[in-house]
Amino acid sequence: METISARQIRSAVVGISGPHITTSISKGVVAVSRADGEITVSDVGRVIEAARTVALPPNREILHVIPRSYVVDGQEKIDDPVGMTGIRLEVEALVVSGATSAIKNLTKCIFQAGLEIDDLVFAPLATGYTFLTKKQKEIGVGLLDIGGGTTSLVVFEEGDILHAAVLPIGSGLITNDLAIGLRTSIETAEKIKINYASAIPDKIRESETVSLAQFDAGETEKIEKKYISEIVQARLGEIYSLVANELKTIGKDGMLPAGVVLTGGGSKLEDLIEATKDYLRLPAEIGKQNFELGGFVDKLGDPVYATSVALMLYSFEHSQSSFSPSEPGILGKAKGFLKHLLP
Ligand SMILES: Nc1ncnc2c1ncn2[C@@H]1O[C@H](COP(=O)(O)OP(=O)(O)O)[C@@H](O)[C@H]1O
Ligand SMILES: [Mg+2]
Repeated sequence: METISARQIRSAVVGISGPHITTSISKGVVAVSRADGEITVSDVGRVIEAARTVALPPNREILHVIPRSYVVDGQEKIDDPVGMTGIRLEVEALVVSGATSAIKNLTKCIFQAGLEIDDLVFAPLATGYTFLTKKQKEIGVGLLDIGGGTTSLVVFEEGDILHAAVLPIGSGLITNDLAIGLRTSIETAEKIKINYASAIPDKIRESETVSLAQFDAGETEKIEKKYISEIVQARLGEIYSLVANELKTIGKDGMLPAGVVLTGGGSKLEDLIEATKDYLRLPAEIGKQNFELGGFVDKLGDPVYATSVALMLYSFEHSQSSFSPSEPGILGKAKGFLKHLLP
């Protein structure tokens, strides 16, 4: 990256993800500070801070406290209370937290690479802010990022983030099972998945085969493409049953009007859109960035780079505007960690 951009990189916005990351709802309450009762930005900051001080297990760290709605003197569902008048200000917020050990390991790696951390961001959250339109988030949408080892889901409704989860399986599970089922190496299984697999076996005629000789000169075997896709379908079913369960816990199973938007390398699987519609009973589409980039545009449009592009735009946007869905704090925390690590 330093070579391509001809710039030395000193610090980075770091994306964090993994099944250790969980979300919960927290509430905060404060008394409005001004004598005339006008609510200020500082009151909002204090109420978010109050929501942050929820009882969190000692081995977890808060990454984001995202306000969902405010209550002013009992009046609910207020998006922006600044300038309103009241005595009591409440917030309902989504708290995203991660395991302290995982966060420490990550910050240590970045530090050892000689970089400073500008911000630590739950990666799927950045992807959600970058790949979904305002309208989709308003009517209800899920962002499903299928990576190698994990699949992450972020659900938005009425413009707010409703739920987020990182599931412990991803597209790598499909590759592993292909290697076992076809008795090939992982490398060959990966090539077969990328070049010959479909998420829908019914689309493939019985007679179609793949010759293993093209991957390994010593092989003579021919494998039925339908069989390949049956393995893919089974593992995809496993991933999607976890996704459906997650949607069920928030009452959104088959109930997101804007459907799901797919990102991540795993979303490039042939016929995935159709399979997703069938499995989840929801509209589905491949995520498109809702912005224009110069330079390496064609490369960066690839879903594999969804997270990197999203983190870049997220940091750009959140350093320029005063609004921040992830209130500051984690930055100071990350720096705190680094201080711990210094001799
Ligand atoms: N063309 C493709 N078809 C199917 N799967 C693909 C394709 N390209 C990449 N993948 C899969 O995407 C996964 C990696 O996705 P990626 O978003 O890069 O991972 P992560 O974000 O977890 O690092 C791998 O399991 C890889 O096999
Ligand atoms: Mg990815």
